Amino acid sequence: MQTNTGSHLDPNTELYVWNKLFTRQTQYLQGKVWDGFFDSLAQLCLEAGRLPDWQTLHGQLYRATGWGIHAVNGLVPARQYLTFLSNGVFPVNPTLRSLEDLDHAKEPDLFHDIFGHLHLLFIPEYVAYIRQLSGFALNYLDNEKALYLLAQFNKWTTEFGLIRKGDQLGIYGAGLVSSFGEAQHVMSNASEKWPADVSLMLNTPHQPAQLQPQYFVIPSFEWLAESLPAVERFIHAV
Ligand SMILES: [Fe+2]
Repeated sequence: MQTNTGSHLDPNTELYVWNKLFTRQTQYLQGKVWDGFFDSLAQLCLEAGRLPDWQTLHGQLYRATGWGIHAVNGLVPARQYLTFLSNGVFPVNPTLRSLEDLDHAKEPDLFHDIFGHLHLLFIPEYVAYIRQLSGFALNYLDNEKALYLLAQFNKWTTEFGLIRKGDQLGIYGAGLVSSFGEAQHVMSNASEKWPADVSLMLNTPHQPAQLQPQYFVIPSFEWLAESLPAVERFIHAV
């Protein structure tokens, strides 16, 4: 996999920012992610020295996983977002963060959506989970409390989840995979790692825009879909 330093690139270009982000993350994440992560990047033809080509990316993703991508600007309404997911389409913001925002994108950007999320679609057990979760959430669009709890569960899994790899931990959450600072934080002793537990996850609010004091470790990707009946029971009980 190409991991050049990009020292020859113009700092005022998107390619420079992409190169910086891609190189830094791929170097840091070696040995710290779920086992298929780097293979999925290769299957998507993602590289440090080239901005993702939309058609190539869509084609590679579709051939490998059956999923497509669709360009959306910024955050989209819940109904639209969930409908995309339940239909096997992943919404991607085509805008890349600026060099000034290298460490903290103001909202999910091209790097977060592509580098952070698309690898998850190569995990059949994750796909079963996210399609069930999004279809489930579509039934609760008029229930603010239920939507909040489902979003919270998704934060602790899709965005900030870890998986047990023998006696080690593997990052799989998009917000960790795509963030240099939070990936370092989660792998350090500065944060606690708790075994995944539905009630605990739904009773532990995710604090936006800051590093978390704790993260949750799933025992396997099968655990995600298997946990959904317990999530539903929790929602019905509140
Ligand atoms: Fe995300």
